Amino acid sequence: MRLDNKVAIITGGASGMGRAEAEAFAAEGARVVIADLNEVMAEEAAAGIRSAGGTALAVRTDVTDEQNLENLVARTIAEYGQIDVLVNNAGVFDKYATSLETAGAQWDFIFNINVKSVFNLTNLVLPGMIAQGGGSIVNIASVAGLVAGKGGAAYTASKHAIIGYTKHLAATYGKDGIKINAICPGTISTPLIAASLADIPTDAIPLRRFGESAEVADLAVFLASDEAKFMQGAMVPIDGGFTIQ
Ligand SMILES: NC(=O)c1ccc[n+]([C@@H]2O[C@H](COP(=O)([O-])OP(=O)(O)OC[C@H]3O[C@@H](n4cnc5c(N)ncnc54)[C@H](O)[C@@H]3O)[C@@H](O)[C@H]2O)c1
Repeated sequence: MRLDNKVAIITGGASGMGRAEAEAFAAEGARVVIADLNEVMAEEAAAGIRSAGGTALAVRTDVTDEQNLENLVARTIAEYGQIDVLVNNAGVFDKYATSLETAGAQWDFIFNINVKSVFNLTNLVLPGMIAQGGGSIVNIASVAGLVAGKGGAAYTASKHAIIGYTKHLAATYGKDGIKINAICPGTISTPLIAASLADIPTDAIPLRRFGESAEVADLAVFLASDEAKFMQGAMVPIDGGFTIQ
């Protein structure tokens, strides 16, 4: 299978795209660690994977808590011995709040989850990847990291920040055999935006529909696998064509 012998941490793996990524990674042979704030749903997701014959562990993690992140890495190493893939997927949305509608505390909330936690967890995982001679990091950005209008002020800025950070990582740690890329989903039907979906028109999307979590998960599997071994610092839109016009 495409991810045999790989150990993958997926943040926000209890719901939406993260859950689909956890299931797809496990189906391709990876041992998966689901790191999520929602312990009940993370346990459910891991149990579902195990009952389908895969290998998965749930670790209750608030990605904004540095001790939680240290515990996540330690538990993964204790259980599976290594970390080959990190999918920085956990994220929160700002419901299109403009700059004037965004309080400082809301800005910090979005940035702590969408950006700072990615920096903190990546820094905890990178030394082991460097020591073992390789690894793969997949950051879930957004088309809101490429263009305006697909989120509010804080969300758009946070996703642009993740793309800049991905480029830095890719440029710096490629020499260590670490493959680092970003996925830029368009509107994907998940609980994160379920409440807004009815108000989002599909006529600006050439394929005239929203995406599905499993479609993003397929791309994450490809980027994490050895098939993508010459991809580095790519920002791959998966948006039904939204960003081409
Ligand atoms: N849904 C979309 O249309 C869309 C589009 C582009 C990008 N994205 C990005 O994709 C990623 C996943 O989004 P989704 O739509 O699957 O969302 P979702 O709300 O379905 O899932 C997000 C998961 O992250 C977890 N989470 C939230 N805060 C956390 C924290 N502090 N610590 C640990 N876990 C936490 C939640 O419990 C949840 O399980 C996010 O980064 C989001 O910004 C989503």
